[in-house]
This record gives sequence, C-alpha cells and structure tokens, in this order.
Amino acid sequence: MKHREVYPFKFVVCRDYQEMSQNAAEFIVAHVQTNPKAFICAASGSTPRQTYDLLAREVRERDVSVEHLHLVKLDEWLDLPHGSQDTCEAQLVTQLVGPLGLHPHQYVSFMSDSDDPDVECSRVQRILNSQGPLDLAILGLGKNGHLGFNEPAQASVAGCHVAKLTPESQEHPMVQGSDTPPSRGVTLGIGDILRARRILLLVNGRQKAQQMKRLLTGDVTTDFPASMLTLHHDVYCYCDVGAVDLVMELLH
Ligand code: GLP
Repeated sequence: MKHREVYPFKFVVCRDYQEMSQNAAEFIVAHVQTNPKAFICAASGSTPRQTYDLLAREVRERDVSVEHLHLVKLDEWLDLPHGSQDTCEAQLVTQLVGPLGLHPHQYVSFMSDSDDPDVECSRVQRILNSQGPLDLAILGLGKNGHLGFNEPAQASVAGCHVAKLTPESQEHPMVQGSDTPPSRGVTLGIGDILRARRILLLVNGRQKAQQMKRLLTGDVTTDFPASMLTLHHDVYCYCDVGAVDLVMELLH
C-alpha cells in the first residue's frame, strides 16, 4: 500500500468508505501478524464499523492468531441505561470481542454504568500503566476535533478521565435514540493516546473535510484535540477522498 506523506502523517487516500475499510482492516491484520501480543485501543462510532467487520472476517479467513492480543476500549458514554445498545461497549463486543473470540482477560473496558466513574478511570489507568504503552491506537475524528472524549478545551488531560461532553458530542448519532443523551463520558487521555507506539486515524466523508483541513493546516491546540496527533511520530491516516476534499493539493 502506497502511503503519501503530509508531514508528519502517512496517508492512504481511498476511493470510498468500502476501500478505506478494507485497507484499514488489512493494516490492522498486518500489525497483529507482526506483533501477536499487541495491546490495541479501539474507538467506536460509525467510521470504524466496516473496518471492524472486515478485520474479524480477515482474522477468521486467514486464521490469524489473536489469542495473545489485548484490546482496550477508547471511550464510553456515561449514564446510559444498563445494557443499552447505544454504548461503545455494545459496538465493540458485537464487532470485535465476540467475533474475534477474545477472552475476558484480553479485553479492558470502562463500565458505562459504574457508580463511581473516577474510580473506574483509575482502574483502567492502572491497567494501562502496567500493560502499556499501547502498540496501536485506532482512532476516529470527532466533528469537533475530539479524540475519544478528549473534548476541545483550554487544557487537555493526560490520563483516563471523566469528560463533560460538548453539545456536538451529545448530538452524536450513537446516542440520538436515547431518551436522555448523555452529558458525560469516560475516555483514555491524550497522554495515553500519544504514548501509543503507532496510531491509526480513520476518517471518511465530506462531513469531516473541514476538520481534516484544520488538522493538516492549523495550529496544535487543545481547542482541537486531534491537532495533538501532529506531535506523534508514527500516525497513519486512512481516509476516503471526501474527507480530504479541501486539502487535495497537500497530498502529493
Ligand atoms: C464518538 C466516539 C469516538 C469516535 C468519534 C467519531 O464520540 N465516542 O470514539 O471516534 O465520536 O465518531 P464517528 O466515527 O461516528 O464520526
């Protein structure tokens, strides 16, 4: 796969969502094949949906060993009713943990209905600190530039934390069916993400074109958390043409 460099990112620009998902799934499979004990963090949302389905299929068809893999959930909505299908948990269990046949000890996850989310963050942080750093962080790009629930703010938080969600995040399609869309979430922090050895950012659709322009041409600022990826040395961005519509001239 040919990567195009737009300092400091390595880009793979695909025809459409299907092609992006296929290439991203192959990228993750290759990562797991060379690093069977990989510690991988996975975002939720619509962007990685097809990648995860194809990843599970590739793992099955190519008989890729995942018995030593460890997966951690990037983030989670808080205050959703127990068992809600709107959770990041429901998506990751249905798309990755189940199809890949991961055992409970291979999956680290914030509980969405914890009585004390701060304690829950400390628990996940302890696991990250002892098992980490992450080998691969699979990320999506929020419409407000968030990474996980690291929301635009005057300052960013390095570790796992409870986040107050911005109105844009509260309008995310994942929770639009909820009677009361959540106003808080839990997330790995920016430091946890930037300590990952490698980052895979997935972005698709013209609805993210402004954000991609800002990512590639704007300042590094906590007002736009994705811009902090510019500080990392090994970020791959797999996207479709729609997402880079406004910055095509930068992609040579
Ligand atoms: C949601 C999820 C994030 C995801 C992001 C982008 O808030 N919690 O993990 O990366 O928003 O979502 P989408 O891919 O649906 O645009």
